[in-house]
Amino acid sequence: MADKKIILTGDRPTGRLHLGHYVGSLKRRVELQNSGKFDEIYILIADDQALTDNADNPGKIRDNIINVVLDYLSVGLDPSKTTICVQSALPALHALTFYYMNLVTTARLSRNPTVKSEMQMRGFADEGLPAGFFAYPVSQAADITAFDATVVPVGEDQLPMIEQTREIVEKFNRTYGETLILPSAMIPENIMQRRLPGVDGKAKMSKSLGNCIYLSDDSKTVKKQINGKMFTDPTHLRIEDPGHTEGNVVFTYLDAFCTDEHFSRYLPEYANLEEMKEHYRRGGLGDGTCKKFLFNVIEEELNPIREQRAKWASDIDTVYDIIKDGTAKAVEKTNATLNRVRKAMRIDYFDDRSIISDWKALLG
Ligand code: TRP
Repeated sequence: MADKKIILTGDRPTGRLHLGHYVGSLKRRVELQNSGKFDEIYILIADDQALTDNADNPGKIRDNIINVVLDYLSVGLDPSKTTICVQSALPALHALTFYYMNLVTTARLSRNPTVKSEMQMRGFADEGLPAGFFAYPVSQAADITAFDATVVPVGEDQLPMIEQTREIVEKFNRTYGETLILPSAMIPENIMQRRLPGVDGKAKMSKSLGNCIYLSDDSKTVKKQINGKMFTDPTHLRIEDPGHTEGNVVFTYLDAFCTDEHFSRYLPEYANLEEMKEHYRRGGLGDGTCKKFLFNVIEEELNPIREQRAKWASDIDTVYDIIKDGTAKAVEKTNATLNRVRKAMRIDYFDDRSIISDWKALLG
């Protein structure tokens, strides 16, 4: 067990996945899946975690499970290599969360920067903070350890969760003996891919801001987002004016997506992005041309994804079986960890009758 390489990662099913998810994590997952370097790969649809800030709207979570699974399958996650499973159907995660809660202080949870900023965003600071939301990093530690994950590929914003998990693992192993695997985070190497801004230039793509390009958007919608909303350089008024490429979302997206081959196909007057940027800075290159090029680059990325999505969407019965079977596999995996944990804590009373003689000795 100890030397297996195991990946676990996950998403909250609160909406369709967008280009930010794609460059920040989905693309990487597919590469890791196809690298053949991992013994087991699990992807968790974290519906329980999604409920921690959507308790009044379970229907939203229920609906979005299918959106997220279709996004996974359409980008190339392959159920024969990657096990896709649903969190709420894994009872071992609930039990582990309950035990781990005792290994974390409320002071430590209050310092978690991701929880802090999410609290702010959701208005929990004023309205009152649900205990389940406050404690979700503990449940995330249960997710990660239950699968014996060695590597957790995530976006940068999740680093505090992995840190918290590592602390819980160390505390557990110190208290009850070497039992849990210490996981490491894996974040995107390419800076451009760590956080793709919204089309409006806001730091993050978010549904409520309407600044996303979704993997499931059709061409018309993508064109509308790029032509109608994408933030460029407000000082670049006429084509002849010199322009800025820094902070210009069109160029940020090109940094994340385009290759030299895209130039030979769609914009052969430049050999690469550097030449194009050079021209933009000098003046004489219009936003319209840049946006049209970006549209072509993104369409090339999205077209095969759309094709796959349409294929899977026409066969939802099969998709249902994929997550049902994946979840059944995950039940076994996570139950095995829970048994190990209970044994380490010596609360496995009904798997170990030696307690009878201990009790008898105790009573003299
Ligand atoms: N918190 C993650 C997010 O919001 C989702 C998640 C739940 C997760 N459980 C996980 C990520 C375990 C990695 C590992 O994106």
